[in-house]
Amino acid sequence: MKIAIGSDHGGFELKNEIKAHLEQKGFEVQDFGTHTPDSVDYPDIAEAVCRPVAKGEFEFGVLVCGTGIGISIAANKIEGIRAALCSDPYSAEKAKQHNNANIITLGGRVLGVDLAKTIVDSFVNASFEGGRHQARVDKIMKLK
Ligand code: RB5
Repeated sequence: MKIAIGSDHGGFELKNEIKAHLEQKGFEVQDFGTHTPDSVDYPDIAEAVCRPVAKGEFEFGVLVCGTGIGISIAANKIEGIRAALCSDPYSAEKAKQHNNANIITLGGRVLGVDLAKTIVDSFVNASFEGGRHQARVDKIMKLK
């Protein structure tokens, strides 16, 4: 499974922790930056990760900024993306099962590392349930 990951400076440390965590679990992770703690603009990182995810080049993406909010707003502007800001494992599981989210966003200044890893694991281990949820996701994707 190929996973895309990226963060701004506010999510830099947590992004590196999550990348190492996923690699340790055997996933292939492509890091779209940022690669230093210097200030960058989160919409640029969101776009870099989301374009290839929307094309199906990755199973899903992980985006981290300070709160997870700005980068999720930016990600959800990109056609084909369903980004879910998750701060707990239950929401992460449902984001995949019900919303078929293809991006999970996290707050690097909000979450502890262990909680963030648990949240990402819940997302990774869940599967889209389809059925009635497919019809709802289809309606989301038709919204302009
Ligand atoms: C950067 O200071 C901060 O605004 C950003 O990481 C994020 O929290 C925005 O939503």
